[in-house]
Amino acid sequence: MKKLLSLVLVLSLAFSLAACSGAATPTTAATTAKTDTTVAATTTAKTEDTTAATTAGKKIVVGVVQTNANESDWRTANTKSFTEAFAAAGFEMKMVFGEGDHAKQISQAQQLIQEEVDYLVVLGLQSAGWEDVAKAAKEAGIPFIMADRKLDLSEDLYTAMVCSDFAAEGTKAVDWLKTQALKDYNIVVLGGDTGSSAQLGRSKAIEDGAKANSWKIVFNQNMKGWDETLAKQAVADLIASGTKFNVIYAENDNMARGACAAMDAAGITYGKTGDVKVIAFDANKWALQNVLDGKFNLDVECNPLHGPRIVELINKLAAGETVEKNAYVKEEMFDTATITQAIVDARQY
Ligand code: AHR
Repeated sequence: MKKLLSLVLVLSLAFSLAACSGAATPTTAATTAKTDTTVAATTTAKTEDTTAATTAGKKIVVGVVQTNANESDWRTANTKSFTEAFAAAGFEMKMVFGEGDHAKQISQAQQLIQEEVDYLVVLGLQSAGWEDVAKAAKEAGIPFIMADRKLDLSEDLYTAMVCSDFAAEGTKAVDWLKTQALKDYNIVVLGGDTGSSAQLGRSKAIEDGAKANSWKIVFNQNMKGWDETLAKQAVADLIASGTKFNVIYAENDNMARGACAAMDAAGITYGKTGDVKVIAFDANKWALQNVLDGKFNLDVECNPLHGPRIVELINKLAAGETVEKNAYVKEEMFDTATITQAIVDARQY
């Protein structure tokens, strides 16, 4: 019965996907209150299935729709976290990579629904265009979980989420920039993948911050795949064009490192004692060492260690327990004034 149902659903999905492909350009900036409603009601029906899966000694099978395999050091840590935590929990993980292609992620999710996974975890390249997949998962009795990046879905279309609050991350950086009291602000924005909630949240924060503080954004472009080399080239071209800037707002550590490499090549000083302030996001261990060494001025944490969080969530759902519907990961920031060797040494990714 479940196989027939999911087949019917997938077919109807295929038809609707044809319709969805036009709607890929997202609009997001959603930051809701930290902890929202519980989902007692919604888990009941499904738990029968999943409890059966657990109690019957059958491995829980979790489909994970990941973004790109080698998107960034953050993504590598994120994939490792899922792999290790799921193995330790005895889950069977079916992880697929969208490789920068939103439509590919959609069809991969469909495939996992057809394969009747017990849970579907999605880390979306784009925040828009997931309604049909979420509807199909719901009708197939498969809990839909968002991790890392919040998607544009109404509450009735997903079971729970464990995400980062990207707008809050961006606001931390903007507030920190204000405290620098620079004579002028000429900001270079190196954005992440267009349409991902990470890019949308962080970019909106600096764009709003610049408007509110009459700061100048002299360059604002998104780098496909959060690519370090593209970021380096973009800054090198900017330098060659003679554009004056004194702030690099790089939406992840790798792109910040790319920007620094371009400034090194041009003999431009940056960081704690330099002419250009460097702001990064993610807070990988090597990047925090750069903050300690005074190369990066500020690094805003985006924590990739979602594996154990999703294992805990799935185990609760499988046990029929209530879970937090909208959970945001608690994150910090580190600047040259607050960083210590102990913080760097204690970093897990
Ligand atoms: O979604 C989180 C973002 O994705 C990280 O900031 C970036 O490094 C990653 O690729």
